[in-house]
Amino acid sequence: MKRFYSFLTAFILFVTTCNVTAQEQSAKVLVLIHSDNGGTYELAKEVKKGIESYKNVEAIIKQVKKSDNPKLKNIPIASVEELITYDGIAFGSPIYFGNISTGMSEFLAKTTNLWSKHALEGTPATVFMSAGSGAGKELALQSFWNSLAVHGMILVPNGISGMENIDKTIPQGNAVLGTTSLVSLNNVERPSKSERYLAELQGKKFAKVALALRKNKVIENDNKTIIKESKIDINQILKQKNIELPSLPQPVGNYQLFKKSGNLVYINQVALKDGKIVNPGKLGIDVNEEQVKEATRVTMLNIISILKEATGGDLNRVKQCVQLIGTFNTVDSFTKHADLMNTASDLTVEIFGEKGKHTRNTQGAYSLPVGSSVSISAIFEIE
Ligand SMILES: Cc1cc2nc3c(=O)[nH]c(=O)nc-3n(C[C@H](O)[C@H](O)[C@H](O)COP(=O)(O)O)c2cc1C
Repeated sequence: MKRFYSFLTAFILFVTTCNVTAQEQSAKVLVLIHSDNGGTYELAKEVKKGIESYKNVEAIIKQVKKSDNPKLKNIPIASVEELITYDGIAFGSPIYFGNISTGMSEFLAKTTNLWSKHALEGTPATVFMSAGSGAGKELALQSFWNSLAVHGMILVPNGISGMENIDKTIPQGNAVLGTTSLVSLNNVERPSKSERYLAELQGKKFAKVALALRKNKVIENDNKTIIKESKIDINQILKQKNIELPSLPQPVGNYQLFKKSGNLVYINQVALKDGKIVNPGKLGIDVNEEQVKEATRVTMLNIISILKEATGGDLNRVKQCVQLIGTFNTVDSFTKHADLMNTASDLTVEIFGEKGKHTRNTQGAYSLPVGSSVSISAIFEIE
């Protein structure tokens, strides 16, 4: 019997260790860009592809500021605070006078708080740039490195890898510190096939380093491997991001603001603020997309305010957002429901980080209660 229990203990330990090892091997990389005309974004897509070709590494492209360019306007905006949550950052920018672009420079200027706290120290970084003629491209890549070196980031160059496979009959944006693309040399479409290849290769090499240096360090303890989760205080995040939760909305029917079943919390809300519906009506007739996005944010903030109540006032008890269902009152021909719902999804991830990632359903409706243009149902798991 004793031997059986020893075997069982060893087996459980083995299964636990396998499970933890599987978690150890995943990494998340931010591809952070500024782009005016989309050239940097084109390279970013290749870098992302390269990163994700590496097993267990995922990448997300975000930009440093809002863009009106139709090619770029749906790319989410990164906050300075979220930089510390990634296992690596691939930075991309246009070249401005042999330097990084003003947009990228402005964003980096906002990271002094992270710098003074050494918050990015040891995080791997790599850079790529979209150029015109390529004048000063090495200088520009170097200037990128200067800022990131001051942060103590681990800089990952390209070296001369991939050279044997590129088309050398035309000028290419290869450089040892990172990939560039020479967009004003318009004898071929840019990024050229070779530049895309180099960017993808750069992403793949970078993923390998990011995974190896993965942030949430594994600590060996009595032969058991434990993942030390970085503790994030949601109240602190709300404060840093100036997100104010509204006071609790009152039920306007025979229902409860939230209902718990086991560790799950169920909440349903519309765009109610200070007793009034924000931007009511039908998208395409009474309201436009921006107004519905505003209403969606109001709705999601209501949900998070109710969630706070459900957790006894401590949002740090939220284990994960399981699912969001967004319903929008739109004209029949409307199809971009997912774009609208991203407002709620992005806000949830902005606040809860990894725990905020969820499954989602979006749909259109002919009409919604109290004239709201949006209604959201949410399921959260709490501790
Ligand atoms: C202010 C400014 C300065 C620039 N300086 C350079 C330069 O020094 N070298 C270069 O090759 N291209 C230079 N360019 C061209 C941009 O780098 C090029 O258009 C780039 O592809 C833009 O990237 P994007 O498509 O992501 O916006 C400059 C562009 C601007 C607006």
